[in-house]
Amino acid sequence: MRLLVFASGRGSNFEAIVEASKKNYLHSQVIGLLCDKECPAMEIAKKNSIPVSIIKPKDYQDKSIYIKTLLDVIKRYKPDYIILAGYMRILPAELIDEYPLKVINIHPSLLPQFPGKDSIAKAWDSGVKITGVTVHYVNDRMDAGPIIAQEFLKISDNMKKSSGLEKLENKIHKIEHRIYPASIKKLTEEPFDTLVVSKCLTGVNCRYDGGSKLSKRVKTFIKNFNGKIVDICPELEAGFDVPRPTTDIINGKAMMKGVGDITEKLENACNKIISRLSGSKKILAILKEKSPSCGVRSPKGIFASCVEKTLNVEKGSGVFIVSEEDL
Ligand code: GRF
Repeated sequence: MRLLVFASGRGSNFEAIVEASKKNYLHSQVIGLLCDKECPAMEIAKKNSIPVSIIKPKDYQDKSIYIKTLLDVIKRYKPDYIILAGYMRILPAELIDEYPLKVINIHPSLLPQFPGKDSIAKAWDSGVKITGVTVHYVNDRMDAGPIIAQEFLKISDNMKKSSGLEKLENKIHKIEHRIYPASIKKLTEEPFDTLVVSKCLTGVNCRYDGGSKLSKRVKTFIKNFNGKIVDICPELEAGFDVPRPTTDIINGKAMMKGVGDITEKLENACNKIISRLSGSKKILAILKEKSPSCGVRSPKGIFASCVEKTLNVEKGSGVFIVSEEDL
C-alpha cells in the first residue's frame, strides 16, 4: 500500500512509520511527506529519500485554490492511505469527500477526552489517573472520527512526585511509536472483506418517511471498496414497505407509530441479515445514526445490538460499526 504522511513538526511518528516500513514490519511504502510549513520532519524525509511537498495555507488568499492545489498534489502521489503524524490542521471537507475512511491520525490522549493541542499537558493538569493514545479515522472536525485503537496509560502517584509531565510525555510518545505502525499494519494488511451499509445511504428509498439520502462519502467509499457489499434495511426486510410510519426507540423497544412494538420483527430481520455474513472475517458497517433499526444512536439501533449479541464481537475486532455522521 502507498502511504502519504502529513506532518507539521518534529516527525517522530513519521520516523517510526518510515523505520517500520524499512524493516519490512509494514509491507507498505511511505511514498511522500506533505507539510504545511518548514519543519524537522522534512529532514527525516530527506535522509530517507522520501519526496516532500509543502503546501502552506497562508500562501493562498483564495481558500478554494488552496484546497484544489492540496487535492491535486495528493492525487499525484496516488495514496492508498493518508497518515497524519502531528499535522496541526483540520482537513478540508473536500479532502475527506475524496478519501473517506482513508485518512488516519494519532492523538496523545484518550479521545474524546482532551482533543486539540497540548493534550498531554491538559490531561496532566486535569489530575486524571488514566490517559493514553488514540488512533482514529479522520473527518473534517477536530480529533473526532471513528476510533480505531486506544492504549491506556496510568498516571501513577510516583510520576506525580518527580518531574512528571516530561516523563509522561516520553511514555506517551513511546506508546505512539509502537501503536501507530501496528494500527497501520492491521488496516493495510488485514483489510475489511465485507461492507455492510444502510440501504438509505446508497440512495435506496427505504427510510420510514419514504425519503432517501445519498451520502457522498459513503458513495465514494463503496466505489473504491474491494470486497462483498451487503446493503441492509431491517424495516424492509421485516416487511414494512415505504412510505411507512416513523419508528422510535422508547425504553429500548422499537415502537412504530400506529402499529406498536415491532422490536421482535426487527430483531428477526436483523438476524436474517447477520446470517448472510457468516463467511465474512472482517466487516465494516456504515449505518445511519438516526435510524432506530439499523443505526447506532443511543440506545443502540437494533442491528448494532443484534450484531453484538449474535457475533459476540467488540467494536474494533471482527465487526467495526461506524455511523455515517462520523465519517
Ligand atoms: C504526537 O504526539 C501526535 O500524537 C500528535 O502530534 C504529536 C506529533 O509528534 N498528533 P511528532 O511530530 O510525531 O514527533
